[in-house]
Amino acid sequence: MKQILILPVLVLFFIINIAAQSPAIIPLPKEIKTGNGYFSLNQECTLKFDTSNEEVTRIAGFFNEYLENIYGFKAEGKRNAKTISFKLQNNLKKLGKEGYRLKAEKNNIEIEAFTPNGLFYGMQSLKQLLPLEATNDQLNIPCIEIKDEPRFAWRGNMLDVGRHFFPVSFLKKYIDILAMYKINTFHWHLTEDQGWRLEIKKYPLLTEISHWRDETIVGHALRSDEYDGIGYGGFYTQDQAREIVRYAAERYITVVPEIEMPGHSSAALAAYPNLGCTGGPYEVKKTWGVHKDVYCAGKEETFTFLQDVLNEVLDIFPSEFIHVGGDECPKDAWEVCENCQRRIKKEGLQDEHELQSWFITRMDGFLTSKGRRLIGWDEILEGGLAPQATVMSWRGIKGGIEAAKQKHDVVMSPTTHMYLDYYQSEDKNSEPLAIGGFLPLDKVYGFEPVPEELSRKEAKYIIGVQSNLWTEYVSNTEYAEYMLLPRLQAQSEVSWTPKEQKDFADFEKRLQTDYHRLKKLGIKYRKHTL
Ligand code: ACM
Ligand code: ZN
Repeated sequence: MKQILILPVLVLFFIINIAAQSPAIIPLPKEIKTGNGYFSLNQECTLKFDTSNEEVTRIAGFFNEYLENIYGFKAEGKRNAKTISFKLQNNLKKLGKEGYRLKAEKNNIEIEAFTPNGLFYGMQSLKQLLPLEATNDQLNIPCIEIKDEPRFAWRGNMLDVGRHFFPVSFLKKYIDILAMYKINTFHWHLTEDQGWRLEIKKYPLLTEISHWRDETIVGHALRSDEYDGIGYGGFYTQDQAREIVRYAAERYITVVPEIEMPGHSSAALAAYPNLGCTGGPYEVKKTWGVHKDVYCAGKEETFTFLQDVLNEVLDIFPSEFIHVGGDECPKDAWEVCENCQRRIKKEGLQDEHELQSWFITRMDGFLTSKGRRLIGWDEILEGGLAPQATVMSWRGIKGGIEAAKQKHDVVMSPTTHMYLDYYQSEDKNSEPLAIGGFLPLDKVYGFEPVPEELSRKEAKYIIGVQSNLWTEYVSNTEYAEYMLLPRLQAQSEVSWTPKEQKDFADFEKRLQTDYHRLKKLGIKYRKHTL
């Protein structure tokens, strides 16, 4: 008698267990209604879409590519078969540029959106609804209805390719990962003290001299004076950069390039020493930290150079926003430079902080005149914010609060919650060498980008959230993936999902399924166990 009862109890237990957990979609959609039964996907299914629309055709193609990659078959479209349709709908305008509806019933699946971008996100969610394994050559997708749109417009991630160089093939993989979690902004940190990474035709020495450092510090820069004696470099040609822009755009990701000024510029100065206050010589730095070699703010040739560089950058990157850095610029050289001091006097500035503000304001005017918008790290608030500038708040959230109160747009990216170069364990000896800090998954997940002290009107200036992967200690692609995942998934949910719906315990469960997907895709991650 007992044995007869055990089976139904077990079955019931499984049903309850499955029902209690949201489908493993990350970031969690805004609205989900689960139904009964399954849509069974196999190679006889038809993908239905408007073949005259190139974008929609590409999106359906992405779905089939994924099926083939992971499950070894495509939906090949027999007549009268079950259908998965991708449909643009004018009446879904209220879901915005990125929203979509996904309805899975027993005999068809419909993804609908106002834009191809929305269809792309619907397709990404559908991929995450697929089971990990086929059953009798069928992929059973639960009947479900999803209505989804993002909380924030800027859902970003930054990769530093200055400290370590990552090849184009990896950047494509990286962009695919971002797209999986509906991240829409790839901030490409292209210039650093330790290496300049973008070809600029007018200044060829940037890719002859500035991309190359003679050697690199071994171990942690704060505790080491040992160097490896091995030269290191690399750069992207303009054609490669364009290829990245195109690849990202097909995945609805905007590439925001960063050209650092006035600090973090040693590598450029090594090739063009006339742009520094003393005239050099300067070197491409071999160790990490904040360096005192910065562009001279007094010389006109500095601005000629930077505007020439930006002109080529604007030609490659269609992004509305252009990042000009602005962080960590020591003022030592400016304090004793005749040209800088003359500039301070001539422009009626109080001090070197106002000189930095004047510098950024000048670049702001230049970018605005080209129809673009300047974004910079929160130091650009010091000495006064340039009129059109957007602030990326990294030293906590106070810069962001201040900028929002001044009616400037803000992207929240504080070290405390969004710095993916920080350790993932308190036991640092159990982890690969990192810069420091401790940023566990639940802390990323728990970040609230809109500070309480902002009024409802001011809160509108918080346009989004970004995580940053600095790479002083991240010297290879596997380690980059390990630092990115699964903290990126947590950030994606901060960026996309309504605040009231976030639930860390539920996220952790979905993540366990996500790990299996990542494994199939050959992507490394740091396992977070329940
Ligand atoms: C930064 O982390 N220096 C923006
Ligand atoms: Zn100077």
